[in-house]
Amino acid sequence: MDRARASHGGLVLITGEPGIGKTRLVAEVLHQARGFTTLWSWCVSDPAGSSFRPWLQVVRDLAAADTDVAHLVAASPQLVGLISHQLPAGDARGTDETVRWQFFDTVAAVLRAAAANTPVLIVLDDVHAAQESSMWLLPHLAAGLHSSAVLVLATARDGEHAWHGHVEARAALVRQATSLHLLPVSEQHIRELLVQVTDTPQPDVLAERIRARTGGNPLLVSELIRAPREEPAQDSSVFGATVSASVRAITAERLVGCSSACQHPVSVAAVLGTRFGLDALADIAEVDLGAVREAFIDAETIGIREFPEPGTGRFVHELIRDAAYDRLSSAERRRWHAADGIGSDDLRAARAERRPGGDRASSVVGRTARRQRGG
Ligand SMILES: Nc1ncnc2c1ncn2[C@@H]1O[C@H](COP(=O)(O)OP(=O)(O)OP(=O)(O)O)[C@@H](O)[C@H]1O
Ligand SMILES: [Mg+2]
Repeated sequence: MDRARASHGGLVLITGEPGIGKTRLVAEVLHQARGFTTLWSWCVSDPAGSSFRPWLQVVRDLAAADTDVAHLVAASPQLVGLISHQLPAGDARGTDETVRWQFFDTVAAVLRAAAANTPVLIVLDDVHAAQESSMWLLPHLAAGLHSSAVLVLATARDGEHAWHGHVEARAALVRQATSLHLLPVSEQHIRELLVQVTDTPQPDVLAERIRARTGGNPLLVSELIRAPREEPAQDSSVFGATVSASVRAITAERLVGCSSACQHPVSVAAVLGTRFGLDALADIAEVDLGAVREAFIDAETIGIREFPEPGTGRFVHELIRDAAYDRLSSAERRRWHAADGIGSDDLRAARAERRPGGDRASSVVGRTARRQRGG
């Protein structure tokens, strides 16, 4: 912000997993932006929505706040079209490149004019959800911002899935922006939050437990801290043992966002535990290892990662794993627990045995599992 005040603005991209605090951070920054003209716009994932919608609000607000800007906007048929909802032709991939670049230049001129007397801070929340055209506008603007008093703070989720595959636009944005990647909150931070919420010091082990259950994701942390009224806060061993309706809703939303090819391995992984072997998962889910890895690219949104140790994966948040487990039918749980119980070598053998004879998997697996349990 100091640099923007001194006419060396720029584009800052704040990234991180869902619930990590991107929106909260930019809201705090906006709140403290004394002496700036501040604007907030956001992107929604709506294929039927209009291109450049997030910029419509920005241009309109800047024009309303400054007569010079209003004149600039009025003199541009493209901007008049934008704010009157007759949006300019030129999807990011559209054929009319010249029109598109002219449009980008005009928006850049509007930002510079708006910042002629007062520095400008623009927040664009959730740019991963924007239409590709709006994404391309950002890197185009970025270069020009370095010599103006404009700071653009954009937030975006991690993960290819969230970006709807807009690989090139994302790469251009990352290249042009100063990136700030948000990390989970520390145990110390959780301790402070606990004191704020409960108004009394809490045993250290509680913060430790919350950190383990949530992976330090502030959204999950606050959901868990809000829940202790239902549970004895003193007993840290059971704290957060149940999955609240809100965490279930968050998990359901994230799972629905995953492709159907991803949902099945994620469900099986929930049965295997917070950490699991990819081979065992592939075996039990009856998909090949490549497909499991592919599914995990998608599953990043819900906090499933391939672990640094080769061949293993994990749920970053225990709570999400529990909530994913909660969604399963008892038949699914029984079947996959049984398959997990017999170990992947036995499972492979069982599969090899059934292959020529058709679908004998569940009976062979069931039999072997019973044998192992002495049944
Ligand atoms: N540092 C923090 N301390 C305490 N609470 C926080 C902190 N950061 C975020 N939160 C809280 O966590 C919740 C999630 O934060 P926020 O909405 O900013 O996440 P996000 O990264 O924008 O998620 P999404 O990708 O879903 O938009 C909010 O209730 C927010 O107030
Ligand atoms: Mg957000």
